[in-house]
Amino acid sequence: PHLHTLISAPDFQDVASRTLTPKAWAFYSSAATDLVTHTANKSLIRRVMFRPRILRDVKTVSTKRKILGCSSSVPFFISPAAMARLAHPDGECALARGCGNEGIVQCISSNASYPLPAIVKAGMKGQSYFLQLYVNSDRAKTAELLQKAAMLGVKGIFVTVDAPVPGKREADERVAAENVASAISGAVASNDKKGGGMGRLMAQYVDKSLIWEDIEWIKTVSGLPVVLKGVQSAADAIMAVKYGAAGVMLSNHGGRSLDGAQPTILVLLELHRTCPEIFDQLEIYIDGGFERGSDILKAIALGATAVGVGRPYLYSLTYGQEGVEHLTQILKDELETSMRLCGITDIDEAHPGLVNTQGVDHL
Ligand code: FNR
Repeated sequence: PHLHTLISAPDFQDVASRTLTPKAWAFYSSAATDLVTHTANKSLIRRVMFRPRILRDVKTVSTKRKILGCSSSVPFFISPAAMARLAHPDGECALARGCGNEGIVQCISSNASYPLPAIVKAGMKGQSYFLQLYVNSDRAKTAELLQKAAMLGVKGIFVTVDAPVPGKREADERVAAENVASAISGAVASNDKKGGGMGRLMAQYVDKSLIWEDIEWIKTVSGLPVVLKGVQSAADAIMAVKYGAAGVMLSNHGGRSLDGAQPTILVLLELHRTCPEIFDQLEIYIDGGFERGSDILKAIALGATAVGVGRPYLYSLTYGQEGVEHLTQILKDELETSMRLCGITDIDEAHPGLVNTQGVDHL
């Protein structure tokens, strides 16, 4: 279908399910075992309801935000996802160009299909990138990558902490892997007797022995702010402050790691109950199941600095750079509409009073 007939993120998913190769669709859409967490991420966001205010002048609105010090036209960014080239020959470079034109931030995966310098070069001058990090068991390789990222002007390191081992993604296992490799980590996927799971096969280099004390090392080697991606409890958010993180990303890897892990919106509410002071100590990001502007506004109202969007951007790549731009416009439009209908004109005015969380508070 023509790009302009697509009017929502689910529309992109629908087209992707029909046009991606079976392997790309299996790898992108899969989640761990019974999809309990994957499903709950989205359904629990939907159980947070708005408490809109009326009769305010909502003629002009601003969605601008600073994310880890970087200017962004919207309070969302692209969550890191491996192997974007499976969706489009330009892969992460198309994402970079789309982000540049839309003024949004791309978090590049350690398992990207293009090399880091090529992705950064594809974008505009002054555009902001984050790098997601899987720490390699060979620490020298990780040190080299971190130094390269700093040299290329990457603005922050998102260390993934929810996947010392990959979750069991059965849809991905059932379709044969295609022997593709990441140009950053060098990880290759080729079938073995467990199946063709790309996520599993490409995770073999990841250091399972990573501990809190290693965060300091990552900060020192890169000289960049470090965000922990995959925090799933208030207790660990408090630890993150102690260990000098600049932010935490509440994430369960889009339900791809531990199936049965609590949906991220519940973690956000746990922070309010357990350690409300944390919102002044760290930037809080969140991802998993956000596919509407209204979904994004709920998390921002509940104190998140920004929301990560994962699969929808991979699906938008079916149309390359233009798809990335169109999806961004759709999400931004939906966000602006939700803001106006809630009676706010600046995203900074979003606050917890704008949502009713009774539908999830007892969970
Ligand atoms: C991911 N995710 C991910 N996370 C990460 O830290 N490093 C990675 O390389 C990848 N790769 C990856 C590949 C694919 C195909 C998917 C779908 C996801 C997880 C990602 O960053 C994010 O947490 C989730 O995708 C967010 O959920 P939604 O928005 O996809 O529901």
